[in-house]
Amino acid sequence: MTNSAPQKDNKPSFEKVDRTAFTNKHLIGIEDLNADEINIILDLADYYADRLDEREFKPDILRNQVLLTLFFEDSTRTRTSFEMAAKRLGADVINIDVSTSSINKGESLLDTIQTLNSMLRPDGIVVRHSEYGAPQFVSTIVDCPVINAGDSWHEHPTQALLDALTLRRRLKVLEGKTIAICGDIAHSRVAASNMILLKKLGVNVHIVAPPALMPDKLPTDDVKKFDNMKDGLNGCDAVMMLRNQMERMQAGLIKSEQEFFENYGLTKEKLSYANDGAFVMHPGPMNRGVEIADDVADDKNLSLILEQVRNGVPTRMAIMDILMKDRT
Ligand code: NCD
Repeated sequence: MTNSAPQKDNKPSFEKVDRTAFTNKHLIGIEDLNADEINIILDLADYYADRLDEREFKPDILRNQVLLTLFFEDSTRTRTSFEMAAKRLGADVINIDVSTSSINKGESLLDTIQTLNSMLRPDGIVVRHSEYGAPQFVSTIVDCPVINAGDSWHEHPTQALLDALTLRRRLKVLEGKTIAICGDIAHSRVAASNMILLKKLGVNVHIVAPPALMPDKLPTDDVKKFDNMKDGLNGCDAVMMLRNQMERMQAGLIKSEQEFFENYGLTKEKLSYANDGAFVMHPGPMNRGVEIADDVADDKNLSLILEQVRNGVPTRMAIMDILMKDRT
């Protein structure tokens, strides 16, 4: 493995990132991490992001290790980028497609995990599940690191980390910046993990939602709530839009998609309330014409949406490097 590429901008080199300062065995939620641990992941992810386009750059640090991905909910980017990240690090990957598994024959989560654990002896497990706390539960029955790829509306830590990497690579410094998170705050695990992470890194967080989609209790303190885009976007350096999580939403909370778009959909006009040159983000999948207009999503200068997807790979490489390296 060659990791002697010169580092730009005085970034810490691959070898110098102090992985031992990361004390968690699993990655269940951003709430379990302190700012130093978040920065360790981001420093390493930044290093991997710089070298992502070098096809021959395949550090073999997870050779002979097995990553199991278990998605009990739909996923395109998250599952694929975990697979790509694990392969870049030399691991073998087993993806279980839950739509064709024995879960549909009534098998419990406990039995499914015990069966796969016994058969595959994985060195890392990635879990996405519609139940709050499922990855935490899995971590109590296996002895390898467990990575939460999204549980209900609770947390989606790897998404928040890749969003922070994307912002950090563009804004350079996150502390003191102002970021708006807009839309279905109440049902979004992406919003929850992002709020927690951004506050831990000293960012000013605005959340903007119609009253029906604004939770009474937020997962972190010191976040400013707004019910309109004009006030909420004022002074913001980036605007993060969210999909309406219809699968977790009680009927009737949104009157019509058209009305939602008129009041909360991000258009060029609404984006002008934010700072000049404010970046636009979205974790995907996007519903164009509902939470975001085409010309905003596709704006090559301001939209970071494809960069977020790309940064999913180096971020997940960094997480697996920290949690799984040296297990064999
Ligand atoms: C998000 C998720 O699944 O929570 N998608 C993702 O991981 N990029 C957001 C969503 O489904 O709206």
